[in-house]
Amino acid sequence: MQITSFKQYEEDFKKSVENPEQFWGEVAQNFQWRKPWFKVLSWNFEEPNIKWFEGAKLNITENCLDRHLEKRGDQPAIIWEPNNPEEESVTLTYKMLHERVCRFANVLKRNGAKKGDRICIYMPMVPELAIAVLACARIGAVHSVIFGGFSAKSIADRINDSQCKVVITADGAYRGSKQIPLKDVIDDALIGCPTVEKCIVLTHVRTPVSMLKGRDVWWEDEVKHVNDICEAEEMDAEDMLFILYTSGSTGKPKGVVHTCGGYMVYAGYTFANVFNYQPGEVYFCTADIGWITGHSYIVYGPLSQGATSVLFEGIPTYPTPSRFWDIVEKHQVNTLYTAPTAIRSLMSYGDEPLAEKDLSSIRVLGSVGEPINEEAWHWFDEKIGKGKAPIVDTWWQTETGGIMISPIATVTPTKPSFATLPLPGIQPILVDENGQEIVGNDVMGNLCIKFPWPGMLRTTYGDHERCKQTYFSTYPNLYFTGDGCLRDQDGYYRITGRVDDVLNVSGHRIGTAEVENAINMHAGVVESAVVGYPHDVKGQGIYAFVINPEMHGEAELTKKDILQTVTRVIGAIAKPDKILFVSGLPKTRSGKIMRRILRKIAEGDTSNLGDTSTLLDPAIVDEIIEATKALK
Ligand code: WTA
Repeated sequence: MQITSFKQYEEDFKKSVENPEQFWGEVAQNFQWRKPWFKVLSWNFEEPNIKWFEGAKLNITENCLDRHLEKRGDQPAIIWEPNNPEEESVTLTYKMLHERVCRFANVLKRNGAKKGDRICIYMPMVPELAIAVLACARIGAVHSVIFGGFSAKSIADRINDSQCKVVITADGAYRGSKQIPLKDVIDDALIGCPTVEKCIVLTHVRTPVSMLKGRDVWWEDEVKHVNDICEAEEMDAEDMLFILYTSGSTGKPKGVVHTCGGYMVYAGYTFANVFNYQPGEVYFCTADIGWITGHSYIVYGPLSQGATSVLFEGIPTYPTPSRFWDIVEKHQVNTLYTAPTAIRSLMSYGDEPLAEKDLSSIRVLGSVGEPINEEAWHWFDEKIGKGKAPIVDTWWQTETGGIMISPIATVTPTKPSFATLPLPGIQPILVDENGQEIVGNDVMGNLCIKFPWPGMLRTTYGDHERCKQTYFSTYPNLYFTGDGCLRDQDGYYRITGRVDDVLNVSGHRIGTAEVENAINMHAGVVESAVVGYPHDVKGQGIYAFVINPEMHGEAELTKKDILQTVTRVIGAIAKPDKILFVSGLPKTRSGKIMRRILRKIAEGDTSNLGDTSTLLDPAIVDEIIEATKALK
């Protein structure tokens, strides 16, 4: 299944387009199934209705754990690196991980969880997070992992949207020098979550927490009551594996649904190929399991391939900006997969943190989450890869389940800031506003995918119509990504960023509408408009234009109040970087905010604002521009 030459890539790609069922049927043979499929693929993009490996039965944890026991039971599956480098790291071999997953799966059962139930996971980046995820999959429960930076209200919304029955959390989390009171946040969330019956709490930071009788139980106590034998639940290839909430341009975050068979095949295939993973190598993905990158490329992809996956609790700059390099040296990391925002942040500290660090183990580098600028690409290449490690700039999304457009390490010639070429099985096309395909090279357009792939989303939880409207209705018969893209003279793809109202702040997806709703919940605020602007480290920053005539005290304090409100409603990750109080917003006569103008103003480019003649009150534009001058 591993591609070893560019010629083979071309052949596989050709085959995957000409005969996709045969291609994916062969790839799927590399996985372990309880029962084979009777049909590889049936699909239409109208409803949409997509089924891969129909009729097949499996359990993804047998592929990630059981099947490795004989050959590599004693090989490390997970190496955990704690937030505090003074603490010991923890290695779990495949045998140990298997045991713990089975044991915790029995804990879930003991607490009433069964196949099909939804389970919310809100945990720090500790091995137990991976164990919790896999234990859900073991018993056929559907996990919904929520990133530790989201607020109680965001958690409650997500729990209620999918009616979770069980919550798995910890007393708290460490993040650099900070401590986050996870259980407190969960307690606040659960006030409004009637479906939750049990909450399993891991001891990690051991801060005092409230434990409600009948609902809350300690992880450490529970595991003593069960044994470590747990036969995996037999799942249909199209049974739900997990839900992961992600932001779109409108409304509340959507619960993207992935299913067992296709997701497994796609995560495993792309992991093995894109990173050119070799047996025994140490692979380190710096993402959080709260995001799709952690699901596919810390847990399921690497483990399905018997890899050794490093799980890091902390942040790149704690206790010093050498932390990543210390980890690379300590664990002899061969592949480092991280985000441009981390690269840019570390770059800003210069060469000093790299001095005397042995990075010679590095063989492959990866980037994900946002466009990587050329300067960051070259720094990564020269300073970290020493010009010898291929960089795979991997473009994909929560909805795609796995990497879509990317170089294949050691196979595809790379080009700075280009995601290069589609992986086998992926058929991207560029379209114009009217949905007309833009053919040929040296062109730009909106990126769509015209044929299904096994890892694609199947629906959005509880609202199939929303899935159809969001992804399959903009252009008939195409999956629309929301990204703009250019294809250069060599046919190489470069993702230029979102073309909808979704921001990408430090690689985190945030909808402008969500942030506006949160700001508007603040007392005194009448209306707001949020746009992105270029930010040196974060990629994009959040700029909020706010009408707030009822200022309570000083403007600066009111801004802080608003930030606090956003933190309460969504979480600290959605806090605007800049707030500008204005008396009005540029609106058309029909009442639509002209974001184009606000974007230009936020970028600081007011020389050419385009046609403003359709504005209800053109004078407001000058007023806003004047106000920006006073803002740092
Ligand atoms: C952006 C993250 C440029 C893109 C895996 C996409 C990228 C969104 C890249 C999905 C890349 C991701 N180059 N842009 N290599 N990778 N993006 O769902 O805008 O958190 O639509 O999935 O991130 O973000 P998500």
